This record gives sequence, C-alpha cells and structure tokens, in this order.
Amino acid sequence: MRNYCLSKENNLGIFISNMEQTVVLVKPDALQRGLTGEIIQRFDRKGLKLVGIKMLIMTDSILDEWYAHHKDKSFFPKLKDFMEWTPIVAMVWEGLDAIPTVRKIVGITKGREAEAGSIRGDYGMSGSQNLIHASDSPDAAKKERKLIFKDSEIFKYQSASECLIYTKEEREGK
Ligand code: CMP
Repeated sequence: MRNYCLSKENNLGIFISNMEQTVVLVKPDALQRGLTGEIIQRFDRKGLKLVGIKMLIMTDSILDEWYAHHKDKSFFPKLKDFMEWTPIVAMVWEGLDAIPTVRKIVGITKGREAEAGSIRGDYGMSGSQNLIHASDSPDAAKKERKLIFKDSEIFKYQSASECLIYTKEEREGK
C-alpha cells in the first residue's frame, strides 16, 4: 500500500501560506437559540480550520467601527441594541478562499429568502436577527479580526486532516 496522505513529502511540515482568514460572529439570537454548536460544526465539517475563538459582549465602540458603513441607516441603533443584548461568540476560520466559502454556508441576509441548506436558510426567518455574521471582504476580515482578537489569540498550527482536505498543490498554492 502506498503512503499517500501521511508521507513526509506530502504532509508534514507544510505550513500553508495562501490561506485566507474570515471572522464569524454567532449573534445573540443564535446563542439564545442554542445554535452555537451547530454553527461551529458546519464550518468544522466543511474543512475550514478554527484558528481563534472567544466569547465577549459587544460594545458601542466596537460596533461603531464594525458597522461604520451602516452608521447613518435608520436601523443602526436597533442593530447595536441587538448585538449588545447578550454575549456573542467570535471566531476566526481559515482556509482556501475562506471568505466566499463561509458566506455561502451562511446564506443571504434575510433568513426567509436564504437558500435551504445555508445556516440562515435552515434556521432563520428575519433579515435583522439573522443569527450570524461573516466577513464580506479581505479588508473587512482584517478590520474585524483586529477589533476583537489580539495577534496572540490567533493560532498557527497544522491540522492532521489537512492532507485530506487539500491536495499538496493546493496547500502550496500551486
Ligand atoms: P449582516 O449582513 O451580518 O451585517 C449588517 C447587519 O445589519 C445585518 O446582518 C443585519 O443584522 C442588520 N440589518 C441589515 N439590514 C437591516 C434592516 N433593514 N433592519 C434591521 N437590521 C438590518
């Protein structure tokens, strides 16, 4: 039998340089509804790698920056009240094209219109209490990560299943 996945050349010591990071928030409604585990499981099973996780209560100053593009919208005060209602769970997930991949798993903003099979499509009805946040661009991911996590709270490690999730060429960015 050939040693494919776990051979030294194919796996050990390859740290992936071309991986993207994205920030996910389990919003207060999802926390209250006991969906935290389900949400984590969907990204885990997809093959994304969890590199940071913490529970915190959002503050006005974080939200003013986080949602700066919504600051003048009529729903902004309500959005802040909602996001500060209970703790949230913030995570950083890593993978090839992690930002669009995670957005697909999350589904579009309004739960009742989101595709069945997506998190919002399966568990949500609302367009404002919509369970989960996911970064929409590399710049947003960078900004959001910095607003919540210190560099020391993001972990660089090799996953034992990486050689099953990606080919060597994908891991090396070829
Ligand atoms: P999200 O798309 O993650 O980021 C912006 C958030 O603003 C969105 O989720 C909703 O929670 C909220 N939001 C967007 N549109 C509305 C709206 N029309 N009324 C209230 N909240 C909204």
